[in-house]
Amino acid sequence: MGPDSGPRSRVLTGAGLDRLIAVMAEEQRGEWGSKIGFILAAAGSAVGLGNVWKFPYITGENGGGLFVVVYLVCIAFVGLPIMIGEVMLGRMTKRSAVGAFRKLSGERSLWQGVGWIGVAAGFVILSYYSVVAGWALQYVVIAAKGEMSSGDPAAMAERFAAVAGNGPGAIAWHVAFMAVTVGIVIGGVAKGVEVAARVLMPLLLIMFVALLGYAMTLDGFGEGLNFVFGLNTDKFSASSVLEALGHSFFTLSVGMGAMLTYGSYLRKDDDIVGAAVAITVLDTVVALMACLVLFPITFTYGMEPTQGPSLVFTNIPMAFARLPGSTVWALTFFLLLVFAALTSAISLLEVTAAYFIDELGWSRKLAVPLCGAVIVLLGIPSALAASSHTFGAGMEEAIGLNWFDLFDYVSSNWMLPLCGLGISVFVAWRLGDEARRVQFEIGSTLGKLAGAYVVWLQVLRWLVPAAIIVIMLHALGVFEALAG
Ligand code: PHE
Repeated sequence: MGPDSGPRSRVLTGAGLDRLIAVMAEEQRGEWGSKIGFILAAAGSAVGLGNVWKFPYITGENGGGLFVVVYLVCIAFVGLPIMIGEVMLGRMTKRSAVGAFRKLSGERSLWQGVGWIGVAAGFVILSYYSVVAGWALQYVVIAAKGEMSSGDPAAMAERFAAVAGNGPGAIAWHVAFMAVTVGIVIGGVAKGVEVAARVLMPLLLIMFVALLGYAMTLDGFGEGLNFVFGLNTDKFSASSVLEALGHSFFTLSVGMGAMLTYGSYLRKDDDIVGAAVAITVLDTVVALMACLVLFPITFTYGMEPTQGPSLVFTNIPMAFARLPGSTVWALTFFLLLVFAALTSAISLLEVTAAYFIDELGWSRKLAVPLCGAVIVLLGIPSALAASSHTFGAGMEEAIGLNWFDLFDYVSSNWMLPLCGLGISVFVAWRLGDEARRVQFEIGSTLGKLAGAYVVWLQVLRWLVPAAIIVIMLHALGVFEALAG
């Protein structure tokens, strides 16, 4: 980005703004290859296992209905506003998670801590995310061999147990998935991700449209629809609200600096708001489609909506078993799932590596494999947790979570919302008007639509922090304690 925008110096005054401008003009940095490059890559980050694997199974565990409503509210009023702020921070500073805060608030500032939480979350999330992606890889191989499905629920459950329950196998496939991710991220951001996302995202959508058409023909479609959209309160609790909030961060890839880092490669004339809205809508559509495919299958074949992480792995092959060309269907589906996971994993690894590259001056060639290796090690307990009842059994007895669950719970329900809280307070309170003037300068939609800008800023200032804090206190039982 060059210092070439004439009127900037007239509109922007004050020391803080000078600092911002210096930051913005400072360096030449990689940019997306095309206008749609950022949208594709960010959508690739957002759409992943979170939509197809995690959302349906936590919807099942939390009873459907009300959980889905709370999730949608969190997406629209918490996740989306934070995403806009996060991308803006990246583009303003041309830095990654920690560096953005350091640039804007000073070398010693505690605000950097927000970025650190994000980087830490990247390590933790990718460690178990890659284990699940490894399961999906194994399913690709099984499908390719034509051994997928007998069309019997018990056999499908056994198949999953054999895949996830084989410790050494799960570790090996986790390592394989991480190796591919490392290979792509070493090559730099723009190239691989843009190309992959351009082809695969539409394919994934087409696949889901076809599957939805099939689900509509099933006897259990009505029941499935009712489960997802009926106002079911059965299994809903304070922790469900926290889970819905956490998942809204997880699925949009916000609250850990992934969108910030991708935003840092954004060109100054790209439209942040339009992109954020498009990504959010796409992500939500895929998540809902996944539910509308999986739950009719669940009810038609008498499977359990509450079965947890195995849901997509048992139900999808069940459905395919009944279709002509079942091998091709299964192969295509799990391949697309692996690619969706890959474009998300790339963004997770990019956040962790970008910290060492941007802040500590490491080379990409050193930072990426090193982060990858740490993540591989960190993922081993999760890979083993699903396989052996003795590994981490003491912990599971004590807190009801094994390693896999614990990593997922802590990262998506606590770390992402905490980092998101930091981002919203920083953007709306700390930057406030500075950000607005910068917005005018760089000419994004919110800068032009002054009214929309005010709404966004107020939501980020009041609603977002209040919602996050109240939901966290609620989940900790603080209100019950006060009441009684
Ligand atoms: N959004 C991704 C998914 O839904 C996961 C992810 C979380 C990616 C956080 C990057 C950052 O699968």
